[in-house]
Amino acid sequence: MSGTPTSLSERDVLTALKGVKDPDLNRDLVDLGMIKDVLTGPGYVALTVNLTTPACPMKAQIERDVRTALESRLGTQLRYDIKLTAEVRGKGIKEKGDIPGVKNVIAVGSGKGGVGKSTMAASIAFGLQSFGAKVGLLDADIYGPSIPHLVGAAGRPTTLGNRLEPIVASGLKLMSMGFLLEPDRAVVMRGPMLHGIIGQFLHQVEWGELDYLVIDLPPGTGDVPLTLAQSLPLTGAVVVCTPQEVALLDAARAITMFQQLKVPLLGMVENMSFFDVSAYLRENAGPEAQSLLKSGSFFAYPGAERVYLFGKGGARRKAENLGVPFLGEVPLNILLRERGDEGRLGQVFQADNPSRPYLLKVVEQLAAQISIQNIKMPKMPKLEILQ
Ligand SMILES: Nc1ncnc2c1ncn2[C@@H]1O[C@H](COP(=O)(O)OP(=O)(O)OP(=O)(O)O)[C@@H](O)[C@H]1O
Ligand SMILES: [Mg+2]
Repeated sequence: MSGTPTSLSERDVLTALKGVKDPDLNRDLVDLGMIKDVLTGPGYVALTVNLTTPACPMKAQIERDVRTALESRLGTQLRYDIKLTAEVRGKGIKEKGDIPGVKNVIAVGSGKGGVGKSTMAASIAFGLQSFGAKVGLLDADIYGPSIPHLVGAAGRPTTLGNRLEPIVASGLKLMSMGFLLEPDRAVVMRGPMLHGIIGQFLHQVEWGELDYLVIDLPPGTGDVPLTLAQSLPLTGAVVVCTPQEVALLDAARAITMFQQLKVPLLGMVENMSFFDVSAYLRENAGPEAQSLLKSGSFFAYPGAERVYLFGKGGARRKAENLGVPFLGEVPLNILLRERGDEGRLGQVFQADNPSRPYLLKVVEQLAAQISIQNIKMPKMPKLEILQ
């Protein structure tokens, strides 16, 4: 690159960055409009990389790639101030059924019940929020709402005309049948009523501005996913499963259902992948065992501390076979269950919680898949939207 440092223009900087790609999106940062606020002056260049999600798993690599390109093309004598910000993108086009102000809607489903869908949906919501995103969580399990309990939220939504205000707890905007029912009352309704309720939860709740609206589905391939897919264009679906063969077969069925409904598959999460004995012992072992644990000689070989109760790696293989992204594994952990039971699930994102690194990885991979989905063009044909 010719020119003295002081004569560099914004264009020179953008040219120097040609070919630097977002590794997930596989497109030039410049073409994606991610390079902002370029400033040049004597001896320095400053710029901002505006990522497509604050949960971008490639942050560090992107910063490194930008710096390397600038240094190799503009020289190492300059100071480079590279700032990273994020602005969650939606799909960029308006479609019938969109919720105004809500950029991405993600459904979390499973073929089988009890695999940890609600726990994952709530954890994904808290996780995205922990990166700074604005998040809502909709409990679409009308017959068995569990989100209010998991996140420790209670109360009755207030109405404003024919609009419902979501309940806000720990910064998440929430809606659930659980807020509308007396405790212990069962929901008895027919399919068309269910359709009406889901439609209201989507379109008559004052969700405001949200980067992500996460939807916890009931288990299986029944009415709710169908209703949801007909009510709005979903960004995509996440399928939660456990490593057992039966759970994987059910997960494959859920994946086929979403494909039939033309809902993009954002990925599979394997929950209850293994039990980490060392994490348990660190909490519960006596002093002798603790020192053995620290010495590294407690287990016969690295990895022996992981007990694969339901088999190993099944969901990753299934995801590969089905051509669906694998978002990560989440081990069994007593604290995860306890925090959920206590209504303090958000606390699993505290620094010392053993589930945190696994959940954060899932959240980052999911956020990346959402960004990838959003730049995919042309869009998939959609189902007829019923209003
Ligand atoms: N990784 C985990 N470690 C320990 N316990 C877990 C884990 N994931 C989920 N659980 C526990 O398993 C139980 C079932 O989880 P959850 O209610 O999230 O499942 P679900 O798939 O939503 O169930 P349903 O099909 O009834 O809606 C809960 O008690 C939850 O705390
Ligand atoms: Mg559930």
